[in-house]
Amino acid sequence: MAAERPIPVYTNLADLYSNLGASLNHAVRWNNLAEEFQKRFGRKPAYIARAPGRVNLIGEHIDYALFGVLPAAIERDILIACGPRPVPASSPISEAHHSPGSVIAENLHTKYARQVFAPARKASVSDEVGEDKVHVEGWHLDINTKELRWESYVKAGYYGVLDHYFKSDVSNANATSPIPVDLLVTGSVPAGSGLSSSAAMVVASTLAFLAVNGKLDDQSNSLTKGELVKMSMENEKRVGVNSGGMDQAASVISDASSALFISFFPTLKATPVPLPAGSVFVCANSLVVADKAVGAKRGYNLRVVETLVGARVLARALGVPVGEKERITLREVVGRLLGEEKEHELDVSDLQKGLERMAKEVEVLRPKGVPDDGELGVTMEEMIEMSGLPEDKFRDVYLSWVEVEATHFQLYKRAKHVYAEALRVLQFRQTCLDVSAGSPAGNDSGSNAALERLGQLMNESQTSCAELFECSCPELNNLTQLARKAGAIGSRLTGAGWGGCTVSLVAEDKIQSFIEQIRDTYAPYKGLEGEALSEVIFATRPSSGACVYKFE
Ligand code: GLA
Repeated sequence: MAAERPIPVYTNLADLYSNLGASLNHAVRWNNLAEEFQKRFGRKPAYIARAPGRVNLIGEHIDYALFGVLPAAIERDILIACGPRPVPASSPISEAHHSPGSVIAENLHTKYARQVFAPARKASVSDEVGEDKVHVEGWHLDINTKELRWESYVKAGYYGVLDHYFKSDVSNANATSPIPVDLLVTGSVPAGSGLSSSAAMVVASTLAFLAVNGKLDDQSNSLTKGELVKMSMENEKRVGVNSGGMDQAASVISDASSALFISFFPTLKATPVPLPAGSVFVCANSLVVADKAVGAKRGYNLRVVETLVGARVLARALGVPVGEKERITLREVVGRLLGEEKEHELDVSDLQKGLERMAKEVEVLRPKGVPDDGELGVTMEEMIEMSGLPEDKFRDVYLSWVEVEATHFQLYKRAKHVYAEALRVLQFRQTCLDVSAGSPAGNDSGSNAALERLGQLMNESQTSCAELFECSCPELNNLTQLARKAGAIGSRLTGAGWGGCTVSLVAEDKIQSFIEQIRDTYAPYKGLEGEALSEVIFATRPSSGACVYKFE
């Protein structure tokens, strides 16, 4: 299983580049970064950690409801050159930038200023009767979640490494300390573009700190890809977004030749899905910057709460048992309704039937007698009542860990989107598998029909994201429409939405004319040529997942 493999650590450039897809471009970028590190820090880096961004082909906002999604890693990535900082014999160990685990973080991009920080141990006193014992509870790195700061993602990656490997009693004299690190970051995933620059930053940073602290040295005993995904998910929550795991899994586990079907229930699983030949996915940046973290309380995190509460209310209405403190997900509601057992998860065809059924069952969440264009949401008081929990319990289970803001909570619309979108993912996956297995018919008209089907599913996904999940925006709606007019077989937003990129399925022989037509019709692209144009609209091929290069 892909998730159980160790993180690749390369010591040979030929192996590394062939894994990345041998292009000169990679070599130039990696060399420049290493040379720049040497210039700035006076020595060669010890490692370069790489984590790619991803494009989600279909399955939006359903990973945190524990439904499978279908992304692919892209060639654009984050690279972090890093190395331990030698402590000069003459310098007092207490100096800020030589204190245990201190970090000097630089970014090749001039708009991101140099940052120096050091983790502080956060000690707490246990309440054991009779003896007051001091425990280390965790680490403190002072992440600012109120504004977008580049180093927050570096710090987020660092947290998990500190908590997993350096969590020990402060009174323990043998406890090891993290070592001081210098690092230099460069990235080609545009920030806030829906291509998961944040997960790529967090994964690359987690890997950089693991590598420098010697935690990847013993490959037979080192972290698996699945474990890195979990750690990176936890890490990214520190930036203030309760994201679902798709981005981290795609960035870590992907293969160069295919997309990935990632499922989260009952555990993380990733299987490759070959994409049909003759077509390409094109990303186009709406140039509306969507910052998931800063807008989270009215956007991303609110959706997480709405889908979770929707699941409880639905479970209640359908007679599905739910523990009082449990945060049941929409995926678990289907499972329990169909009598799924712990050790025997539903197979894909049963899940598909379950999802078809849920398209009808979900109507119980729809407020009675409200017209389609009326208010389909419910107030906080109504929502609490529908949950069947006393208010204090409700707040404890659903609101104590997250900040959300809304006058109406859209339980019905969100759940309706999630179930339909989860079904579209299974249909999309099956269509790809059929094409690669040579059915239907394996002839041109068969594969054209399959491409049309994929395009139709993508278009339906866009409509649902716009109307039910309300995570699109006018620019994304416009760009997907222009894409269809320019010949895309299907087009939709990708990632969290509210800005960022669209992804369009385009026949390989039409890419050039497609890109030109979008340039001429999407107003923000007017006049863009050459590199400036390929910065905002580009075809992608699935890329390989995260790795580390070790300089010897
Ligand atoms: C963001 C999150 C993912 C996922 C998408 C929406 O990218 O990080 O976990 O929820 O939004 O599909």
